[in-house]
Parts: sequence; C-alpha cells; structure tokens
Amino acid sequence: MKNRTLKVGRNDPCPCGSGHKYKKCCLDKAMFEPENLKDLYAKKYKIRLKQAADIEGIRKAGRLTLDTLDLVESEIKPGITTDYINTLVHKFTIKNGAIPAPLNYRGFPKSACVSVNETICHGIPEEQVLKDGDIVNVDITPILNGYYADANKTFFVGTPGPEARKIVRVARKSLSKGMSMLKPGNTIGDIGWAIQKYAEGEGCSVVREFVGHGVGFDFHEPPQVPHFGRRGEGISLIPGMVFTIEPMINLGKKDLVILKDNWTAVTKDRSLSAQFEQTVLVTEQGFESLTPYDL
Ligand code: MF3
Ligand code: CO
Ligand code: CO
Repeated sequence: MKNRTLKVGRNDPCPCGSGHKYKKCCLDKAMFEPENLKDLYAKKYKIRLKQAADIEGIRKAGRLTLDTLDLVESEIKPGITTDYINTLVHKFTIKNGAIPAPLNYRGFPKSACVSVNETICHGIPEEQVLKDGDIVNVDITPILNGYYADANKTFFVGTPGPEARKIVRVARKSLSKGMSMLKPGNTIGDIGWAIQKYAEGEGCSVVREFVGHGVGFDFHEPPQVPHFGRRGEGISLIPGMVFTIEPMINLGKKDLVILKDNWTAVTKDRSLSAQFEQTVLVTEQGFESLTPYDL
C-alpha cells in the first residue's frame, strides 16, 4: 500500500505537532532550505539558479565578451563603419570557438548591436560611418560551450563634447549604482530604484521598454530586471541568480521610437542615449560580475 503520510499536503496538520496547518507553519521554513528554494524559484518565477560548473562556464564566456569589447575599443576611430565593428566581433567570436548569439536571434541580421548617438539599443551594423564626437554602444553576447554572457559599453569616437561626456558618465555610474544593491535579501526592485534615483537626480531619464534579464543557459531568461522601480518591490535576490543589469539612460526624455527595420530603438526627442551592461551573479556575500570591468 502507498504510504500517504510521507508527503505532507499544504492543508495537512503540520508534522511538527503544532496543530496548525502545514502551510501556515513549517512549509515556509522548508521553502527556505537551499534545495527547496531552487524548486520554488523554478516553479514560481521560472528562474533557473546556476551551479558552480554553470557559473564557471558563464565566467569563461564573460572573459571572451570582455576580450571582444577590448578589441573593438582598440579599433574605434572616426572613419570606420558600424559594419566594420560587426565584422571584428563576428570573426573574433568564431576564432575563439564561440557563436555570436545576436546573429539570427529573432531575425536580427548581424553578430553585435552597434548603437550610435540617439540610438538607444539594437542598432543594426551597416555602412554608417563613425565621426569625431560620436558615442557608440557595442553590445556583445557570445555562446561558449553552451553558455551565454552579455555585456556592453559605450565608447567615445575621437574627442567627446560636453553632452557626450555627461551621458556616458551618468550611464556608467547608473550601472554601478544598480550593482551596489546586489546582495541576498535585497529585491529586483531595489536595483531599478537605485538606478532611477541616481539618473533622474542627474537630470537624465531611464528607458522603460528594455530591461535586464536572466542569462546563462539562454540569451534571455526570467527574471526581468527593470532599471526603474520602487525599493523592496519584486523578487528577492538569492545566491545562484545570474542576470544582466543594462541601464539605457537618455539625456532628454525617456520616450523612444522603433525605426522601420523593427529593431533600432532611438530616443523620440533624438537626444543622446548611452548604456553599460554586465552579467552578474548573486553570491552569499553580495555579488560577482561575470563580465567584470571598471566603472
Ligand atoms: N544584447 C542585447 C541585450 O542586452 C540583446 C540584443 S538582441 C539582438 O539583451 F537580437 F538584437 F541581438
Ligand atoms: Co542583455
Ligand atoms: Co546585451
């Protein structure tokens, strides 16, 4: 006969003997055992926590992401095209035994997103020539041994003017403000809250339509990580979560329009927009960036 007492139902008397229902008593505590948390986050949020071997795989993909960004930076100068940047990224990724995740992702036609000046994100590399004073964001996501790491930086082309300097400074510090909230017990909402408070305090605005995201086993996994929000809202951070923080900050208003190519997002008021992105891991102590660079 099947032993029905082994699995305790939510409405059964609690096995601790308190006389309360299991769901009102020890079920909650059981949920916070590390093994059960993994199931809870998987079931409730569809978040796949990462194990040591996964983290090492994502870290390696992250190292390649950073090497690619360094290569791109060394080649940025007035006169090159955005498609030249794409070619550099594509060849370097393949040479290192990886696959560029953007290529053919939901129909995206190139191997990197290259977004100039008022382009917020998802710029498609083409014959556009970079000129002195431009800012250009390059967003890189290789798949290495099945693992994804996602990071981007905004670079100056030649000598920046005061507006370019300001938006790049605010976007860079927005990422570091978001990352400073990363520790178990804080929430996803705390990240967006910290970013929004800082960026708006600098007179800039935060893009709402695009958010950070879980990453590692796939390009975009749950959870979503907004770069705006309220303190204490949303899912609690726990060790093993891997996601991106990638604030897009505009010098003018937050509104955007998508161009006819169905990808390129530009500021509606055509003000400058900048972005920095890293892939981060929540740890017992706080966090580790898996695509670490100085901010
Ligand atoms: N790398 C972008 C991100 O940070 C996503 C680009 S999707 C693409 O999430 F198809 F445009 F590549
Ligand atoms: Co991303
Ligand atoms: Co990215």
